[in-house]
Amino acid sequence: MGIESAVNIEDLHRMAKRRLPRLAFDFIEGGVEDERGLERNEAAFQRWCIMPRYLVDVTKRNQTTTLFGRRYASPFGLAPTGTTGFFRGGADLALAGAAADADIPFIMSGASNATLEEAARVAPAHTWYQIYAASDRAINENFVRRSADAGLSALVVTVDVPVRPRRERNIRTGFSSSLKITPSVLLDAMLHPAWALDFLRHGGLPTLGNWVPYAPPGANARVVVAYVNTLVPAPGHTWRDIEAYRRLWKKPLIIKGILHPDDARRAVELGCEGIIVSNHGARQLDRAPATLDALPGVLAAVGGRATVMIDSGIRRGTDVLVALALGAKFAFIGRAAVYGVSAGGLAGAKKAIEILRREIDLNMGQMGCPSLAQIGPDFVREQPAR
Ligand SMILES: Cc1cc2nc3c(=O)[nH]c(=O)nc-3n(C[C@H](O)[C@H](O)[C@H](O)COP(=O)(O)O)c2cc1C
Repeated sequence: MGIESAVNIEDLHRMAKRRLPRLAFDFIEGGVEDERGLERNEAAFQRWCIMPRYLVDVTKRNQTTTLFGRRYASPFGLAPTGTTGFFRGGADLALAGAAADADIPFIMSGASNATLEEAARVAPAHTWYQIYAASDRAINENFVRRSADAGLSALVVTVDVPVRPRRERNIRTGFSSSLKITPSVLLDAMLHPAWALDFLRHGGLPTLGNWVPYAPPGANARVVVAYVNTLVPAPGHTWRDIEAYRRLWKKPLIIKGILHPDDARRAVELGCEGIIVSNHGARQLDRAPATLDALPGVLAAVGGRATVMIDSGIRRGTDVLVALALGAKFAFIGRAAVYGVSAGGLAGAKKAIEILRREIDLNMGQMGCPSLAQIGPDFVREQPAR
């Protein structure tokens, strides 16, 4: 079954599952500890109904959205996702290319395999860079300078990885950034020949491209990973570092991973223009609240002084519409795009975007909201508890 036959994100999910070895698929799919956060994220979206309004002219529907003074074609973008080159050779640049083609933002991960300079060449007007802070501040500041030199549009600082999470699936399957080839890993790979061939064709384990300049000269992928693991996560990364980025970076500065209203307030006070309410797709703290539940507190604390965006658990266009109705300005997708690119490379990444864009368009028509300028809380109702 080819990518073109995918009807929804769930189809891409199934196709990715079929193509990938178990350890790779489980890395994408998994949460942390008991993985209750995954259910919580999606259940929070399901709790909201859309209350349609009829006899409204919906002949023309407009989902364009202005963010940081620039218009994008849809109200969602691609969240940063690391190590995607392991799932499909060249995946980072396929995601960048698909985002540019669809005119939506692409946040390049601090754990990407391609470099931010390469992404800037593929998607010069759509690439943002996500910083994973290192315990060496000179490196972090160098990332800010490189992002400026490459002309990137925004900088995103992910703050919800102060320590390395214990993702139990990965422990069981043996997935780690420095992958050891055990007999079961080898068997897993042999049972997924399309993936294995692509992996070998792209030179085996991909490196963490952005970090190569700081690693020992001539380091191979494993050495680069081992080196990065000595610096990241940086448990001593604090608000002082945000102040430093603010001094260096003149374009929009966005904090990703905020859930508490006081943290949101502090980000605004330090001059950040954007906040992504995120729990990292339930991959860090299993007891973190669903992002949709954290959104009202953050919105109230920010009080319109910064742009509030959201991710975690979005699988349908209606999820995006519910988030916007509840006050988010923009949404990001993580797994939905990773399923697409893993299953079908550039065509798969484009398909994921196209599916969500179409769902948003049709449901805007269905709910009687021809322009996102009109969306608001009157379009949603919380379902009564059963
Ligand atoms: C495979 C994978 C890799 C990820 N890598 C990163 C990363 O490098 N940096 C980051 O800030 N978030 C990362 N995330 C989290 C996403 O940016 C995003 O917050 C999350 O996927 C949203 O939830 P969703 O997958 O339910 O859409 C990753 C998520 C996945 C699934």
